[in-house]
Amino acid sequence: MAKTEQQRESFRASLDKQPHEVATMFDGVAKRYDLTNTVISAGQDRYWRWATRKALDLRPGERVLDLAAGTGVSTVEFAKSGAWCVATDFSKGMLAAGSFRPVPMVAGDAMALPFADESFDAVAISYGLRNVSDPDLAMREMLRVTKPGGRLVIAEFSTPVLPLFRTVYMEYLMKALPRVARAVSSNPDAYVYLAESIRAWPNQRQFAMRMAEAGWSEVKWRNLSGGVVALHRGYKLG
Ligand SMILES: C[S@@+](CC[C@H](N)C(=O)[O-])C[C@H]1O[C@@H](n2cnc3c(N)ncnc32)[C@H](O)[C@@H]1O
Repeated sequence: MAKTEQQRESFRASLDKQPHEVATMFDGVAKRYDLTNTVISAGQDRYWRWATRKALDLRPGERVLDLAAGTGVSTVEFAKSGAWCVATDFSKGMLAAGSFRPVPMVAGDAMALPFADESFDAVAISYGLRNVSDPDLAMREMLRVTKPGGRLVIAEFSTPVLPLFRTVYMEYLMKALPRVARAVSSNPDAYVYLAESIRAWPNQRQFAMRMAEAGWSEVKWRNLSGGVVALHRGYKLG
């Protein structure tokens, strides 16, 4: 049954990440999504997006899929390279909230992408894969739509490397973050899900193995902000 505006705005998905629950939850945070991100990351989100563009190493004229692109905030960052970048997401609310951005947007599910085989030089997914109910299937779909020799960059919250910092960060995630979100977000409950889903996500090494198992080659990663975020990159064999 369709949810009312009020129901969407106080809704959080469970950790089994049923697609309709995840899409509804993001519809509910869409209005203030960009602002909330900047507040809860203390402005680091801009640096993380810039670093993701650098890791993609895009050239003018290349075709790039920004998957689970939400409001397209990362898509416009990638488009600064001169590459042709398309934003895809299954939350129509998120795409609508970013419709003022000058990038093409296509509604679609990461587990059944609406694109032909080998149509992109590069694929990126930022803070999206953790929310997909079958991330391994999504990584295989991304491989299918990438040209031979093309690359994938995954930006995702990860595990801080230094033990003391890791402890402080986990406290922030579980206690302070939901309180901060209550002050700024249109759906604070979604940020409880955010904290729980980050804790349940594999660490850098475990995740690199999952990428390789999905068929990606030469998988490497780079930590940002001490491992709060990791950028994993892999190639499709030519
Ligand atoms: C945390 S937001 C990230 C948005 C954007 N990439 C960014 O960096 O701000 C996660 C996005 O993943 C999308 N998403 C989750 N599962 C998806 C799926 N199976 N197919 C397409 N989009 C999905 C959600 O709708 C949401 O917009």
